[in-house]
Amino acid sequence: MAVFSSRCRLVLIFAFAFIISSCQSDADNSSSVSEVSSLPGVKLYEQNCVSCHGKKGNLGVSGASDLSISSKSREEKIEFIQKGSANGVMQPYGNAFGGNLSDEEISKIVDHLETFVK
Ligand code: HEC
Repeated sequence: MAVFSSRCRLVLIFAFAFIISSCQSDADNSSSVSEVSSLPGVKLYEQNCVSCHGKKGNLGVSGASDLSISSKSREEKIEFIQKGSANGVMQPYGNAFGGNLSDEEISKIVDHLETFVK
């Protein structure tokens, strides 16, 4: 009986250690994931898009569309940003098209674009 209970204790200690270590690696994973995408849409927009579209979306440099009067749907905007403009002035931003932005980041930028539309 005594042997059983000390084994039991050992199992508990291992289980506890395992739980703690798995918690830590979870925390590590989520922090490295959020490092990539922790920037809010407004920051990502400022880094990548203001030079042509301006802070409020209506600057119009190099013929950039006025985003405050865009009639594109959310999905159309996401696709447009991923692939860039057909005339080549706006580069493709989607990872899958050689750009520097993940789908998640583009989705956050589009959240920000929605705030321009009156
Ligand atoms: C080098 C200048 C430039 C940069 C930088 C740029 N764009 Fe554009 N963007 C354009 C031009 C030019 C057009 C219009 C293209 C056309 O008429 O085919 C456009 C069009 C768009 C449209 C389509 C709007 C509509 O309703 O037709 C969206 C959405 C858009 N840009 C979002 C973005 C976002 C988001 C970024 C940053 C990730 C960005 N753009 C960066 C130049 C730029």
